[in-house]
Amino acid sequence: MGHLSYGLSSRVFVVTGGSRGIGLEIVRRLVRDEQAKVVLCARKQEGLDAAVAALDAGDNLLALPAHIAREEDVANLFDRTLKAFGRVDALINNVGMNLLTASTADADPATWQKIIDSNLNGTYLCSRAAAQIMKRQGQGKIVSISSIAARRSAPGMGIYSVAKAGIESLTRVLAIELAPDNIQVNAVAPSMVKTGFSMPFWSNPETHDEIVKGIPLGRLAEPADIVEPVLFLCSAGASFITGQVIDVDGGATIA
Ligand SMILES: NC(=O)c1ccc[n+]([C@@H]2O[C@H](COP(=O)([O-])OP(=O)(O)OC[C@H]3O[C@@H](n4cnc5c(N)ncnc54)[C@H](OP(=O)(O)O)[C@@H]3O)[C@@H](O)[C@H]2O)c1
Repeated sequence: MGHLSYGLSSRVFVVTGGSRGIGLEIVRRLVRDEQAKVVLCARKQEGLDAAVAALDAGDNLLALPAHIAREEDVANLFDRTLKAFGRVDALINNVGMNLLTASTADADPATWQKIIDSNLNGTYLCSRAAAQIMKRQGQGKIVSISSIAARRSAPGMGIYSVAKAGIESLTRVLAIELAPDNIQVNAVAPSMVKTGFSMPFWSNPETHDEIVKGIPLGRLAEPADIVEPVLFLCSAGASFITGQVIDVDGGATIA
């Protein structure tokens, strides 16, 4: 079966957390099928090396180590992108992490800080850096990966839910502030996706079946299910869409 095409050839993307999971699938589609240019980041060098080897995209791909909650890492990420490719057409805020917490009220503040840093603060710092470049260009797209947990928390995910709710609010705030500069800001909110991140849940058959019961389309999402809406939001076809969060959840939130 052929793949959909979004007209993103030669466009320059920054994809955070692109070394595995949903981010890696986004980068794969961009460099392999769209002939886009991509800078991806992650914290661990071995993940970056494995992604570069798997993607085999030559000069169209740059993989840089960066912790997105560190201002100096984010500054370096965007400086290197400009040096390599001269512009930033789209930022995909894909990084997300969780530390399971039995109770948000009882969690220690260091745990709160880590989860808010990697999810919300990192998304803010990257969006801020990209917006400065996009304003000069007079155009750009920012797409963040939220989660349906932003509006419906699950056990162990309280702080993560708060961070994702912040990302959805940030999406609306930036969409209004950056509209005069022709920058569209949107988010995609998946239900559970089969990646390493959620493996502790879906690898247990009983938990898997319980989760699937709440999904009208009757299965968990694969990374590819999330990639297509993200690429659409980065395309010219989405130029009049801004400030929106699209639930990509097999109907879970309407069930
Ligand atoms: N999988 C799901 O069920 C699901 C459901 C809803 C929403 N989401 C969201 O979808 C997005 C992608 O999730 P995923 O399942 O693909 O996750 P994943 O497989 O765990 O991949 C996360 C990626 O982010 C990188 N990363 C983590 N923290 C980082 C940081 N502080 N700075 C830079 N890079 C960092 C990781 O590499 P390093 O470890 O090397 O840094 C990795 O490349 C996240 O925003 C997640 O919240 C996932």
